[in-house]
Parts: sequence; C-alpha cells; structure tokens
Amino acid sequence: AGAMGGDDTLRGELGSLHGIPLYKSFITVWPQVEAFQARPDDLLIATYPKSGTTWLSEILDLIYHDGDVEKCRRDAIYNRVPFLEFKSPGIPSGVELLEKTPSPRLVKTHLPVHLLPASFQEKDCKIIYMARNAKDVVVSYYYFYQMAKIHPDPGTLSEFLETFMSGKVAYGSWYDHVRGWWEKRQEKRLLYLFYEDMKKNPRQEVQKILRFLGKEVAEETVAKILYHTSFQQMKKNPAANYETMPATLMDHSLSPFMRKG
Ligand code: PPS
Repeated sequence: AGAMGGDDTLRGELGSLHGIPLYKSFITVWPQVEAFQARPDDLLIATYPKSGTTWLSEILDLIYHDGDVEKCRRDAIYNRVPFLEFKSPGIPSGVELLEKTPSPRLVKTHLPVHLLPASFQEKDCKIIYMARNAKDVVVSYYYFYQMAKIHPDPGTLSEFLETFMSGKVAYGSWYDHVRGWWEKRQEKRLLYLFYEDMKKNPRQEVQKILRFLGKEVAEETVAKILYHTSFQQMKKNPAANYETMPATLMDHSLSPFMRKG
C-alpha cells in the first residue's frame, strides 16, 4: 500500500490476538473490546465468519421490530447490529457504535468463546451461536477474502483450503471455534443453531429463537419474517446485502456478499 499512499489496513498480513490470527486494525482496539460493558438485555450473535451471521441478524432485527420490514430498512445491517470487535480507519469502531445504540441491543461477534469479553457472562446475556459446515464456510470465506480488502490475498482456492485447515485465516481454526462454543452451551444461556437447519426448516428454527427469547409472535408475522429473510429477498435488500459499504472496503464486482447461500 505504501507506495501509492494507500490505506495500510488493506491487503495487509494478519496480526495475532492471543494466538488467533486477526486483522491488525481490530487488534489496535482490543483493550476497548475486552473492557466492553454489556447490558443485561443485550443479545449476542456469535458465529465463525461466513456462517449465517447476517441472516440471523436480519431475522432477529425483524423479531425485535415485530416483523416491521420498513423499520428494518432504517439502516444497513452493520449499523443495526454492530460488530463488537470491528475497527477500520475513519469509521467508528464497533464499541463506539454500541455505546450509542439504545437497548435492547443486538451485538455481532466472531470471537472464539475463550476471548469473549467477561461482561457478557457477568450480565448473563443471552447468546445465539450459529454454525455452518466447514466446506461451505471455506468456499464462502475464499470469495469474501477476495472482495473484502481487509484480508490478505487468499491465493488459489486450494492454497486457501490449506490455510483454512491449518487455522491460519482470520479468527483461526473453524474446528476450535465450533467446538469451543458447543462446549459452552450447557452452562450458559446459549442457543446453538445450524445454518443447514435454518435452510431446511426456517419456520422451526425461527420458532426455536422465539421460544429462547420468550417472545410470542403472530403466525402471520412469522410468515413475513421468513419471506423477508429468504436468500432472494435479502440479496436485493441494500440494508442487508452490504452493497452500501464503501467499495474500497468491499468490492462487489469481485464477488457479491450474498453469493449463493
Ligand atoms: S460475515 O461476513 O462473516 O458476517 O458473513 P455471514 O453473514 O456470516 O455469512 C455470509 C454467508 O451467508 C449467506 N447468507 C444467506 N444464506 C441463506 N439465506 C440467507 N437469507 C442468507 N443471507 C446471507 C451469504 O450468501 C454467504 O454465504 P455464501 O455461501 O458465500 O453465499
């Protein structure tokens, strides 16, 4: 980047956060993330990258707004559901955005369970984790590495597969991530979901979420939520498909954020 006077966070190598490979810009704000003050009514959405975070986020924002689609177009998904550990030069950090967000907040994180800020446990916050199978994650991640310029160059798909399997991608090993959160599900107020179940039977999974939240929602509202969070609907929704991100950060001409689902 240097010679062109470009942004040094773009296409740079990953740093290391307590042994987990992570974007260097995120590591600079780690002290604020670690000290993050959760509120008892925060709901945390935790995932390994490319595992259905945005899908789950849109479903939850719709549940929180009783299926009001217009209200859920008020802002881009990354502002409606702030990304806890996010930092990019010139943009408010996730923690800064969250401090300004009124309760009840939805919070996104990709952190492995052992790096979760202590406050979420102390305040006994509810957490929903979503896992997706590794084969689809690695392909989705490969295209995301290409379009989201915060990542190093992924090389070829087979090179990237090696990097992924050895846990040298951002957020580290998929295996450790899904297993770490799985082991946590007994002891905490944690709902552990699978992307594939959501795909196969979204109504059943949304009902699971509603039970977990202790919310009653009319059947027609559930139907509306399911319709608006289908892949086809979300792909053409600018508030959900990341097309409002600056092209310097995400280049949708290389690969759309909503690729295949
Ligand atoms: S991120 O950047 O880690 O937050 O990405 P994340 O949202 O976790 O994952 C992106 C993938 O989820 C797919 N997606 C969906 N699949 C099915 N239905 C719906 N509604 C939906 N919304 C997002 C998205 O297309 C990415 O997967 P791929 O396989 O790349 O298409």
